[in-house]
Amino acid sequence: MARRKNRFGLEQLKKFAERHYLMTDGRYTKISVVYQFAYNMENGVIVELGTGCGLSTVALCYGTNYGGYSLPVHTVDHFVSFKGWSGEEYVPENKYTAMERFEKAGIDPIMHEDDFEDAAQEWKGGEISLLFWDAGSYLMESHIAAWMNHVAIGGIILLHDTPDMRLGTKRVVDMLYKEGKYSDAQYPGNGFTSILKVC
Ligand SMILES: C[S@@+](CC[C@H](N)C(=O)[O-])C[C@H]1O[C@@H](n2cnc3c(N)ncnc32)[C@H](O)[C@@H]1O
Repeated sequence: MARRKNRFGLEQLKKFAERHYLMTDGRYTKISVVYQFAYNMENGVIVELGTGCGLSTVALCYGTNYGGYSLPVHTVDHFVSFKGWSGEEYVPENKYTAMERFEKAGIDPIMHEDDFEDAAQEWKGGEISLLFWDAGSYLMESHIAAWMNHVAIGGIILLHDTPDMRLGTKRVVDMLYKEGKYSDAQYPGNGFTSILKVC
């Protein structure tokens, strides 16, 4: 399939983010990285674990749209009161903030209001080419264990916040390695580990 680029370029994404979110260096990095991964995906579906107020969801949608393949983007969040590993507080109202931002951004991601592990059990969305974890919690390992069988051969699992090893990055890599599930783990040094899953 030939790429057919549309209006959702990286510059538009940055402008949108600056207008609607408090931007930090870390957030610029996050949106640029997930945008680029989504841009490169040619088939399957994209799943995000952790919608929050929707910043990275916008980046994923803009990336896949500008990349020309316009893959479905699913985003999962339980939207309950929750304190993340960094001390950040998440609240149920984030759901409405996210929905409002999606409308303003002109995107239509598929929202799942559910716990990650329950959503994985009920998943009927097809093979995942890109699984993006941004949960802000220490439970990375069980979240990835629940979802990994839905990830396509050659798909990518992208983990955010990974310089903090307490989050379970190494355990996730070890777990996938033991099961022969990935060919390559990259540590780009900007808050991400990307893992190419091959079997
Ligand atoms: C860091 S925020 C997501 C930020 C978002 N990706 C962005 O870029 O704006 C983490 C989110 O994960 C959600 N979350 C954490 N653990 C969860 C779980 N087990 N099931 C569902 N949602 C969860 C929290 O409710 C929170 O909204």
